[in-house]
Amino acid sequence: MDVPVGRVALRNSQDIANCRQTVRRVAQQVGFEVLGQTMLVTAASELARNAVVYGGGGEMTWEVLSQGRSVGMRLTFVDHGQGIADLKLALTPGWSSGLGLGLGLTGSKRLVHEFVIDSAPGKGTRVSVVRWKRMSRPTETGSI
Ligand SMILES: Nc1ncnc2c1ncn2[C@@H]1O[C@H](COP(=O)(O)OP(=O)(O)OP(=O)(O)O)[C@@H](O)[C@H]1O
Ligand SMILES: [Mg+2]
Repeated sequence: MDVPVGRVALRNSQDIANCRQTVRRVAQQVGFEVLGQTMLVTAASELARNAVVYGGGGEMTWEVLSQGRSVGMRLTFVDHGQGIADLKLALTPGWSSGLGLGLGLTGSKRLVHEFVIDSAPGKGTRVSVVRWKRMSRPTETGSI
């Protein structure tokens, strides 16, 4: 069975809107309830915005995961921008290098079950998040 995957370019606000729509659609097809869909969409929105605003654009790839009775959705955001010099600082709620609220990264982290951020100054940033959902019976995700 092929693993359902896809990608969305992130260059501007229209792309961020597309990204939100894609995440909503796939999350719905995977079987997430509205709350779980919204959590994924909100996290995606923040991470996509960071990739556009700070990373100079990039892309999101999505992947449907299946493990026993759980299905999951992994979203990976990659940009080749300035990177983050101090990850600990960037992950402090309320800290922003610009005029933001400084809640995008920490807020996203709380909306998912797995959150991995990797960044190198001058090279770019990669953030990968996963949200799981336990299904009542084994699922077939091949048709997504
Ligand atoms: N992809 C990225 N590339 C470079 N720096 C980033 C990236 N994502 C986040 N950062 C840095 O981490 C900081 C914190 O990001 P976070 O999204 O939490 O807050 P914010 O974008 O400043 O404000 P907002 O609450 O509006 O999202 C940013 O101010 C920025 O300096
Ligand atoms: Mg942000």
